[in-house]
Amino acid sequence: MQTVRLASETDFAGWREAARALRARSVPPEAVLWTVDGAADLFAASVQGGEESRAFSVPREFLELADLVALHRSDERFALMYRLLWRLGGEADLLRIHSDPDVHKARGLAKAVSLAAHKMKAFVRFRLTADPHGEETYVAWFEPAHRVTEMTAPFFARRFSSMNFSILTPDLCVHWDTQRLVATPGADAADAPAEDALEDFWRTYYASIFNPARLKVGAMQKEMPRRYWRNLPEARLIPDLIAKAEARTSTMVSQAPTVPDRVIRAVQRTNRDALYDGLAPSTLEEVQAGLQMCRRCDLYRDATQGVAGEGPARARLMLVGEQPGDHEDLAGRPFVGPAGQVLDRALAAAGVPRDQAFVTNAVKHFKHDLRGKRRIHQTPTAGELNACRWWLDAERRIVRPRVIVALGATAGLAVFGKATPVAKARQQAIQLPDQAKGVVTYHPSYLLRLPDPDAKARAYAQFVDDLKFAWSLCPPPQGEVARRA
Ligand code: URA
Repeated sequence: MQTVRLASETDFAGWREAARALRARSVPPEAVLWTVDGAADLFAASVQGGEESRAFSVPREFLELADLVALHRSDERFALMYRLLWRLGGEADLLRIHSDPDVHKARGLAKAVSLAAHKMKAFVRFRLTADPHGEETYVAWFEPAHRVTEMTAPFFARRFSSMNFSILTPDLCVHWDTQRLVATPGADAADAPAEDALEDFWRTYYASIFNPARLKVGAMQKEMPRRYWRNLPEARLIPDLIAKAEARTSTMVSQAPTVPDRVIRAVQRTNRDALYDGLAPSTLEEVQAGLQMCRRCDLYRDATQGVAGEGPARARLMLVGEQPGDHEDLAGRPFVGPAGQVLDRALAAAGVPRDQAFVTNAVKHFKHDLRGKRRIHQTPTAGELNACRWWLDAERRIVRPRVIVALGATAGLAVFGKATPVAKARQQAIQLPDQAKGVVTYHPSYLLRLPDPDAKARAYAQFVDDLKFAWSLCPPPQGEVARRA
């Protein structure tokens, strides 16, 4: 039995070097014992390779996977990674076989680590204090589910680049002095300052982004699991916010649009986080929760919130608009403003119950320019459409509609993947790769903007016809026909 002693719990470089040497010397996984004892005796003579070890190469995908697995708290992680490395020698496609127990296990560990990093970026809360020289510094205490402190530290340094801060965890502490990141050994909760004035700030922020219309207690607790609550100042608000959610929903819908407060937006920027590709949502609740952390493009910066689609999870008809407008951005729901009213009227005229359709947008954040107090709609760029297609695709995968209606040219680009001129392509059922049929028609805002009343009436009638046409392409399942007639 060969024993490999790694210098630390996260010593991936040490593991990698020892694994290469072992592999080159054909030492099988069952003959290796991986331990961590803090002594930097990584490369004992018994595992050193020679020329051979340099010649051995592994797929980049494996290294990326192993890099994450190494941060998991599982005691098996180093042995599992070496077993995979060993097997890759004879099974080049091993990582493609998701049902393989080793692959399945490693992917599960990597996913848990990504999630822990994501939670850390979202739930670290700094408290203002002073260092021994009297300089302002921010200190946070956090207990990550896995050893992700070092991995997430550059994120905090980028986000809070001009601030002195320390993040203390039981595993490791990281410190940023606006120039350099330094790591020191783990600490105790008692080393972090107690409550400060920022606590109130966090609670104000949280209350402001809490959207009662979207309240799903289960999904919320999944996104903000209870294990993190004790270090979150805003967590104590949750029971009260839940209790008052219904009343707040009706007030919010009738509220006048306001420009989000600058300070609150600055904090939003620092605490929303990118989703990792391994975390593709599989339910509409996950889409809703994940959108609030989305950083796939910069539009999250100035929007109040990400607006997910809404409607039955198994709707036969999906309607795709361009992006939320001012009203939708505030209410957190698609098509509730003036364009939504045109859409509602046309759907009723076409005999399409809105509550049987899934209504969404190609881009989920409101893109706008500020002119005085008014927020003026801006058309999203092709890059923003592309970035956001990830969410639309997730909604398409989950809902699996029979027919998708693109409302306007921008939605057409997102749905069909190419420019689809509305006037030419309307009233056609276009086959889409995901088994659905696509229909393109006008955007309701276009109808609102048409200056000539006759042209407006004509286009509106065509819009109603197009919705009727789309609805005729998705008849209800047998048995429901009588009810719909
Ligand atoms: N316009 C859109 O495209 N979508 C909305 O949700 C509102 C206005």
